[in-house]
Amino acid sequence: MSHQRTALITGASAGIGAAFARHLAQEGYSLLLVARRAEKLQALATELQQRYGVTCTVFAADLNDPAAPQAIMDFAQAQQINIDILINNAGLAGKGSFAGSAWSELAGEIQVMITAVTHLCHLVLPHMRAQGWRAVMRGQPVCVTGLVNKVVASSVRPLPIKLQYFLGNNMNPFKK
Ligand SMILES: NC(=O)c1ccc[n+]([C@@H]2O[C@H](COP(=O)([O-])OP(=O)(O)OC[C@H]3O[C@@H](n4cnc5c(N)ncnc54)[C@H](OP(=O)(O)O)[C@@H]3O)[C@@H](O)[C@H]2O)c1
Repeated sequence: MSHQRTALITGASAGIGAAFARHLAQEGYSLLLVARRAEKLQALATELQQRYGVTCTVFAADLNDPAAPQAIMDFAQAQQINIDILINNAGLAGKGSFAGSAWSELAGEIQVMITAVTHLCHLVLPHMRAQGWRAVMRGQPVCVTGLVNKVVASSVRPLPIKLQYFLGNNMNPFKK
């Protein structure tokens, strides 16, 4: 790597996001870890710093809050962290039935898995372009079992996949 690359990983406090963090730390990337549970993020950051000697910064944010993506980027800027890789991993599957769920709950899923994903791409893209670097991901594991309400969680999947595809094409001229 020509300089220390940094990955922003949302939903890094557990599961696939934490696995992404471990893998990228092993590869020598600096990390900006985001989720709601600050103590989980901090424990992971401490582990990865000690094990791999990489810089891990944590920022607790609820992506259900429309102001969260801008707050993350403001924090990154204040810490002089340039984002080279964005892993939009934070997400959830509804617990109840679709019809029986409160609209606020379903709207929250859309906020986290569509609006925040798109907003973060929009905020991070100019920085990636400026650095001639691109990598945008939205975790889409294939195995889902035993989830009751997947109506929203499953419906939102096509947008991030398309977003990733078109952003990739859009950024090609800037790739080094
Ligand atoms: N596992 C699967 O089979 C599967 C299948 C299809 C898609 N996915 C998608 O893949 C991603 C990761 O799945 P996973 O199995 O690793 O899930 P997980 O273990 O439940 O982890 C979800 C992560 O998202 C974070 N998160 C949830 N709501 C958030 C919010 N409002 N604001 C900020 N962070 C939030 C959680 O952190 P906090 O609770 O600390 O905020 C946690 O770090 C999710 O987007 C999921 O929808 C998973």
